Amino acid sequence: MSEDKKSFYITTPIYYPSSNLHLGHTYTTIIADTLKKFKKIQGYDVFLTTGTDEHGQKLYEKAQENGMGDNPLNYIDPIVESAKDLWKKLDIDIDSFVRSTDKDHEKNVQEIFQKLYDKGDIYKSTYKGHYCVHCEAFWTESQLVDGNCPDCGRPVQYHEEESYFFRLSKYKDRILKLYEDNPEFLQPESRKNEMVNNFLSGELEDLSVSRTSFDWGVDVPFDNKHVIYVWIDALSCYLTGIGYGKDEELFNKFWPCDLHLVGKEIVRFHAIIWPALLMALDLPLPKRIFAHGWILFNEDKMSKSKGNVYYPEPIIDLYGVDALKYYILRDFTFGNDGNFTTERFMNRFNADLVNDLGNLVSRSVTMVEKYFDGVIPQPNEYNDIDRDLISVAESAKSKVENLIDNLDFSNALEEIWKVIRRANKYIDETAPWILIKEDKERLATVLYNLMDAIRIICILTSPFITETSNKIKEQIGLSEINWDSAAEFGKTVVNTKVQRKDNLFNRLDIKRETEILNAANAKLLEERTGKKISAEEPKDSKSKKSKSKKDKELINIEDFDKLDLRVGEVLEANPHPDAEKLLVLKVKVGEETRQIVSGIKKWYEPQDLIGKKVIVVYNLKPVKLRGVESEGMLLAASKGKKLTMASVLDSDFEDGATVS
Ligand code: MSP
Repeated sequence: MSEDKKSFYITTPIYYPSSNLHLGHTYTTIIADTLKKFKKIQGYDVFLTTGTDEHGQKLYEKAQENGMGDNPLNYIDPIVESAKDLWKKLDIDIDSFVRSTDKDHEKNVQEIFQKLYDKGDIYKSTYKGHYCVHCEAFWTESQLVDGNCPDCGRPVQYHEEESYFFRLSKYKDRILKLYEDNPEFLQPESRKNEMVNNFLSGELEDLSVSRTSFDWGVDVPFDNKHVIYVWIDALSCYLTGIGYGKDEELFNKFWPCDLHLVGKEIVRFHAIIWPALLMALDLPLPKRIFAHGWILFNEDKMSKSKGNVYYPEPIIDLYGVDALKYYILRDFTFGNDGNFTTERFMNRFNADLVNDLGNLVSRSVTMVEKYFDGVIPQPNEYNDIDRDLISVAESAKSKVENLIDNLDFSNALEEIWKVIRRANKYIDETAPWILIKEDKERLATVLYNLMDAIRIICILTSPFITETSNKIKEQIGLSEINWDSAAEFGKTVVNTKVQRKDNLFNRLDIKRETEILNAANAKLLEERTGKKISAEEPKDSKSKKSKSKKDKELINIEDFDKLDLRVGEVLEANPHPDAEKLLVLKVKVGEETRQIVSGIKKWYEPQDLIGKKVIVVYNLKPVKLRGVESEGMLLAASKGKKLTMASVLDSDFEDGATVS
């Protein structure tokens, strides 16, 4: 019945407030918020629901451990407040924060349970199974791995108790059909296969939906010996968030949900149980569920019990909200797991935010101030270089839109960064510092174009790094962010006053800042959990191992393009006359034969190299090594004491071919 076709409803999972939220929880929420901002700027009426999942045995036990078993809310309330503070700090634009202990939500849960019971979709029976307190999940004997929980590996408890069951089995075929008819319902594709293969291809068992073994939950309305077991309670928060049972107009405007964002471990609940419950309630089904991977720390899922938790607060306090948002959106491929390291975070910060974006804005605004008294000049005729900049800038918007439709945040940002890098290159190509002396009219065109490219960048970045985009907006004197104008070059108003402000980002000394950040995180972890951890980064992880050879700074494709790599064929190999470790090779690269001195004697007999196809760094400046000229370098891979030359086995590679 909704008149407004442009509504968009997004949800995050409701988080367990068993302890303070960490970087992993922040991930889902930042994604949801960015998408909200993006849809909003495109003209949609967007609604975002998040919240906290506060019932269940695990939380009750947690509260008890902390001496607050008689009222778990005394334990939970401060954690919920800290979550709300975190979302405020991150400028997350939340419309509804549902606590599952809210009275209106509890009322909804009871009504839903009653409806399902009245319909005959809930019935009473006996539950026999193995319960994992940590995962809040029951498992059958055959699902256990070595007698433990198949998800987390922890011990389980055998239970036999009276329980109400939801007739999940009844909905199996409709769920399969739902997947078939709506390929976008569950993404990525791999998750759908997982659901079908693991749960829907065999028998789908009915679901136990009540407990008598604890009472920290919502009472079954007609049988107060039972409390409603968490998933009906938790999932219904998505309905409560938009006024189910209270505000019909709001509910009708935003339901069905456009996107449930969830982590990969809770897909089954969202993609099987949730649609079945909605089918039973005769409610329309959500349009899309997207399951993302985890942010790993120390190559493992973050967990307070393991002490490998990274909190967002120290990152935000030290480097700002946008530094964290940019890193999360850019560095992780949504859908896959990714490892968090402070080094990667700082490399991205320095390369993308300081070097690319920050420099572009400061250089350009400074030049307008210096050469045109801070007033954007009137452009004149365009040449090919201008036209190239214009086409890169104008085409970015639609590419970004398509990528965001696929929730590909990383590549959407990459498209924006292509414009940023093109604009930086434009400065080098046009050399305004020379034009000021030789051709002020041309300089006016160049600076106008730069300011207009920055206007487009400012608009495109605004849903992602809003605070930074606002700072740019202020510096370039842009009056409003109009999304559609990001596809049109030339919308900057001539004579607008610009104003150079502080640098958008300042370069980080990676070694020093890593120590500072790790120490701040360790301190917070100790404050929050009493756990003492070393302020150093992972000790035993792969990332630590790879650090013996330090990760280098991130480079752009332009940097890579500077390398001329070619395939060569080794014609001759002889010991160096004056150095024990070196060989002198003659390598045929296309028409040319190069002499290359290489330190590979320890690993290769000269005769074994003859005829090998190798990869040559072709444009390395020639040097003399112990008196013998070397005109290039061969690529090799080394680990520990072993070294292997990068050689090309495929005979289709011709010597002289370019490697890129
Ligand atoms: N309460 C349930 C969800 C009910 S939704 C109706 C729950 N809570 S949770 O706090 O354990 O997890 C909430 C979300 O945070 C999940 O989507 C989970 O995947 C996500 N993350 C928790 N740790 C994470 C990482 N380390 N990385 C990325 N996301 C992770 O499950």
